[in-house]
Amino acid sequence: MSLLTELVDYVDLNQRSFFISAAAIAFNPTFWNIVARREHRTRFLTRLFGGNAQTACYALAATIFSLGIIRDFLYERALRDQPTHPALEQPLVKYAAYALLAVGNLFVISSTWRLGITGTFLGDYFGILMDGIVTGFPFNITNAPMYYGSTMSFLGSALLYGKPAGILLTLHVLVVYLIAIQFENPFTAAIYAQRDRERARAAGQTVESKKEL
Ligand SMILES: *[C@@H]1O[C@H](CO)[C@@H](O)[C@H](O)[C@H]1NC(C)=O
Repeated sequence: MSLLTELVDYVDLNQRSFFISAAAIAFNPTFWNIVARREHRTRFLTRLFGGNAQTACYALAATIFSLGIIRDFLYERALRDQPTHPALEQPLVKYAAYALLAVGNLFVISSTWRLGITGTFLGDYFGILMDGIVTGFPFNITNAPMYYGSTMSFLGSALLYGKPAGILLTLHVLVVYLIAIQFENPFTAAIYAQRDRERARAAGQTVESKKEL
């Protein structure tokens, strides 16, 4: 029997909590992309917060953070309703689980530390741009430490509780994040490209006016 069918044999699809968890996992990036793109197009959140983009972005950050806590809660609840696989009860698996949780959290926390709140939570959609590309750790390991770190934490929890259903949900997390990256990266790149064009134009104008002097 292949590993995957072996795993799926230990997933109880009669548990509603499994599908609720899967839905929460897919909902969060969908929600923040819809809101952030709408903000970029219409500035509706900035206007809602009296024209203060910073405050608006912090409000979205708090919302996304809270949704993340709910999603984690629903994931843990789903795992509790699922059968445990004996092969996942070995000490080696637990050590791997702790390592994944440690590295995953390190990636998430250190990237938030590097980017700041607005850099982490879609500030560029609010017109709050970073000065330059962040290259230090953990961005010298992966360009999406937030997403891969979060995925590692999901896998770590699945292994810690010994739940094949958690491994399956982690694959779902990975797919959702890979789609989110495909969707977000070109948009962010376009925002920065526009900033660079405007800077170049402004610099050009400065050169022109110096020539006139
Ligand atoms: C990334 O940077 C950290 C320090 O900021 C360094 O210790 C580590 O070796 C670097 N990793 C790679 C793969 O360059």
